[in-house]
Amino acid sequence: MLKIMEKSWNDFWAYYWRITDRHKIPGIFEWDRKLVDFIEHVCELSPGNRVLDLGCGGGDQAKVFAQKGYEVVGIDIAPSLIEYAKKQFKENSLSNTFTVGDMRAIKYDSEFDICVILSGTFGFFSDEENQKLLSSIRQALKSEGKIFMMLVTRKQAGKRTKTWRQIEDGWELNETWFDHETNTYQGTAFIIQKDGTIIKPKSESGYHANEIIRCYTIPELKAMLDHAGLRYIASYSSADLSIPAKARQLGVEPNIVVGTRR
Ligand SMILES: C[S@@+](CC[C@H](N)C(=O)[O-])C[C@H]1O[C@@H](n2cnc3c(N)ncnc32)[C@H](O)[C@@H]1O
Repeated sequence: MLKIMEKSWNDFWAYYWRITDRHKIPGIFEWDRKLVDFIEHVCELSPGNRVLDLGCGGGDQAKVFAQKGYEVVGIDIAPSLIEYAKKQFKENSLSNTFTVGDMRAIKYDSEFDICVILSGTFGFFSDEENQKLLSSIRQALKSEGKIFMMLVTRKQAGKRTKTWRQIEDGWELNETWFDHETNTYQGTAFIIQKDGTIIKPKSESGYHANEIIRCYTIPELKAMLDHAGLRYIASYSSADLSIPAKARQLGVEPNIVVGTRR
């Protein structure tokens, strides 16, 4: 008999996607190391600097920062991910500073050398809230502190996709599309288990497995940074994380933006 189960972001999807699924991606830990090296290079950081990692997930990049001698504060809305992040830090004898929380509520004052928002973790909220978040980040940064954002771009969001894949206990259907009216990337997923059970995302407020991410253009972001008291420095593409960082290439869409506190 067909059975439908609704599972919340924290209870199921967060761990399923950000830990179980992510860790199966070939070369993902090497990519995390490359990314952190790149951030260190373009943001001119040095060990001992304080890093604020918003939407830190299971702490995969935070761990690389910590192993290099950075002091990282990680915040994520999913308790299951923060629990995992704490566990990985403990196993690696790193002192942990992870907190369950909503990034919209951060209240730091001139404490960080850099704030990182990685893997498309900007654009989850309304335009007003996204703008407000940039102001809170500005407040959290020391003077001349940096912001490093990895965005979901319009081009990446691209055309509609519908992908079935076989998983251990059944099949997973992922659907993504770009909504032109709201300029948002949207996506959802279902799992159909071999026993006929359908697992689908529970409708909940805030961020959940039904993703809606606002795709900002670089000029839009420049204006938003400016409005928040931050200055745009440069943009890059995560398709090329080589060091020294390459200047912008024609036809390559940037999805990384670096700025600084004014
Ligand atoms: C695309 S994942 C990125 C995770 C990690 N930064 C990485 O690169 O692997 C987005 C993360 O943001 C978290 N998140 C979503 N909404 C949030 C919010 N309002 N406040 C804090 N974290 C949030 C999710 O739980 C998820 O771990």
